[in-house]
Amino acid sequence: MSEDFDKAMDELQASVIEDARKIYSEKVIERWLNPKYMGEMENPQGYGKVTGTCGDTVQIFLRADNNKIIDARFITDGCATTIAAGCMACELAMGKPLKEAFKITKDIILEELGGLPEESIHCALLASDTLKAALNDYIQSKNDPWRKLYKKHDGEGKMQGLV
Ligand code: FES
Repeated sequence: MSEDFDKAMDELQASVIEDARKIYSEKVIERWLNPKYMGEMENPQGYGKVTGTCGDTVQIFLRADNNKIIDARFITDGCATTIAAGCMACELAMGKPLKEAFKITKDIILEELGGLPEESIHCALLASDTLKAALNDYIQSKNDPWRKLYKKHDGEGKMQGLV
């Protein structure tokens, strides 16, 4: 019984992935199924949280050294393409000087992902907007170290950003 269920689930998953391959590039599929940069970060130096017009949210966490990004992570409650776009935003930011990271736009994310269907383009915008919010937070926290003391938590131990 359980073996039948597992087999049915595997078949369902394979068919969902097969359907997705007809719509999305291999780079999107790769990052959706194996989002290397997905995850929360404790005590990030920069944090951004943006909710898009579709109602989905992306959060990005950054750490930098010598004005160069040394770690970037994201989480989202959004769709497959948001996972891919959030992952790509972090991937592109890694190792970049802050100034260069600010230049990571929706279009660059789209290009690196091999494009997205028209209806998913806003997912790349959400990722680039969130990256910018995290970069701005990093700069503000660096300029005004006292702001770190005022980081809020949402009751689940997750940081909400500045008061
Ligand atoms: Fe909401 Fe992708 S559909 S971010």
